[in-house]
Order: sequence, then C-alpha cells, then structure tokens
Amino acid sequence: MTPMTEDDLTQAVLARMAESTDPRFAEIMRLLVKHLHAFVREADLTPEEWMHGIQFLTQVGQACTDKRQEFILLSDTLGVSMMVVMLEQLRAVRAGKGPKAQGTVPMTEATEATVLGPFYWEGAPESPLGADIAPGVKGEPTFYSGRVTDTRGEPVAGALLDIWSGDGDGFYDMQIEGAEMAARARIRTDADGRYWFWSIRPTYYPVPVDGPVGRMLGAMGRHPNRPGHIHLLVNAPGHVPLTTQLFVANSPYIDSDAVFGVRPSLVVDFEPHQPGTAPDGRRMDRPWWSAHHDFRLERAA
Ligand code: BEZ
Ligand code: FE
Repeated sequence: MTPMTEDDLTQAVLARMAESTDPRFAEIMRLLVKHLHAFVREADLTPEEWMHGIQFLTQVGQACTDKRQEFILLSDTLGVSMMVVMLEQLRAVRAGKGPKAQGTVPMTEATEATVLGPFYWEGAPESPLGADIAPGVKGEPTFYSGRVTDTRGEPVAGALLDIWSGDGDGFYDMQIEGAEMAARARIRTDADGRYWFWSIRPTYYPVPVDGPVGRMLGAMGRHPNRPGHIHLLVNAPGHVPLTTQLFVANSPYIDSDAVFGVRPSLVVDFEPHQPGTAPDGRRMDRPWWSAHHDFRLERAA
C-alpha cells in the first residue's frame, strides 16, 4: 500500500519488519523507527537540517580510529551510556536485588556502577597491597583504603581491583604521545576483603573536544569537563563484575559531569593530612590525602 499520510509512512516501515526472525532485534528496530519518525515530525526537520545531522554523524564515524571511539563519546555526552548502565542496575532491582538506580545505597545493596570511559588499558601490572601505583606521576599523594564485601557484608578475599586514573593535571597516560602505563595497577584484597594502595588525588579534566562531539558540546553551550575521579573494575569469582568510579567530593563539575556518570553514593570525602605517618606506617614528608570506600558486590546467580 502506498503511504498517504505521515502516520501511514511510519506504519509502512514497521510493516516491512514482519518477516524478521529475531524478535528482540525486531522490537528494537520497531521502537527506533517509531521514535525516529516522531522526532523528525516533532522537530519539523527541514531537508537541510537532516543533511546537517547526516554530515555530523559521518564526521563522528570519520573521527573514529583504533585509539579513539567518537561514537562512544557521543553516547557518553548525550547520557545514553549512563542510561544503559542505570537500566542494567534497575534490572537487578526488579529481579529483587542489586543497587537502586538513584540515591544513597543501603548496606544490603551492591555498589553502583558507572561508565567505563575510553581510557581503560587492559593488562595493568598486578601490584602488592599497599603499593604506590603512581610513582613519579604528577599529583598530590593519596592513601586509598576500604573493603570489598558481598551485599550481606561478608568479606570478599582475593577480589581483583583494576584501578586507573589521570594525573594531577587531568591527563591519562594514554593521552601522552609514547607514554608508558602510569597510575594503573591491579590489586587483590586480603583475606578480610581489605585493600589499600597509594596513588594521586585525581583532578577534573575535559573529555576529548577536538572532534565533532566537542563541536556539538560547544554548540549546545555545554562545558566538556568531568569532576576528579578514579576508575575501578572489581572482579571476584562468584560475584557480578563491577565497573565503577570514586568521585572527589567538592571537585569542580561534581554537579555537572559532562557524561552524567556521578552517583551520590560514589562521591568520597578526601581528607587532608599534614606531613607525618600514614596508616600503613609510611612516613610522609609532604601533605597527603586519604580516601576510604567500601565496595559491595552482588553474588552471581
Ligand atoms: C573518563 O572517565 O575518562 C571518560 C568517560 C567518558 C567519556 C570520556 C572520558
Ligand atoms: Fe576518567
């Protein structure tokens, strides 16, 4: 049938998917067509505006290399990546367990997840408990400590923390031409689920803005910054893997993260200390910080 109206056109496109043999794929495409058509109609897009959008998406694709994923950055800055993370956690809540999608997380719930970001580098060295994972890296020294437990408070021994952050100026090792791994390590919890290590206090930094997504943010009147944060993957046999971050309380942009990744339960007070002896016995001859956070892992089904 020849579509007569705008509604007919949407229905005609949807009807062409009747033969799809993959029900989930068909469902996703049905919703995509439905919302895309509604968007074009509500915005009353002109051909020039639609072409502008096509050119923008083309530039996003052209900006991708084996080291840069501009489409993920687009998804991050439009809040889509975080929406997917939150829905995954909501699924766990609906199943009767797991963290709440919003607000403070009670003891019985798992630590909230957030976005992975583009600066994960697989294969960081495994370091002993208490190691300084950022020797020679610019930034103020910080003693990180806490425990990994399950949602019932039972310690998780031997949990692997894969940790990474930028330096005190907001640059990741990967952003520095020819640089080797820095401010990254994998550390295992002790028999009591405890972990501790030294790194630096991360500062805020901008997401990459030298491409089409940066131009989009500028045109939207948005800043490109993320508040100071340290990334962690927490993995332990028999538990649901966790991708999360700890955010520096009071960091600039803590209330306006460019990728919407801040969860209130992940904001940590970094306590200032004068030179002296740290909890692990280390003598500090300059001021230092401490940050404490416990992680709770969901047991795998
Ligand atoms: C980051 O955390 O490093 C990051 C996350 C999303 C986009 C860009 C950077
Ligand atoms: Fe980051």
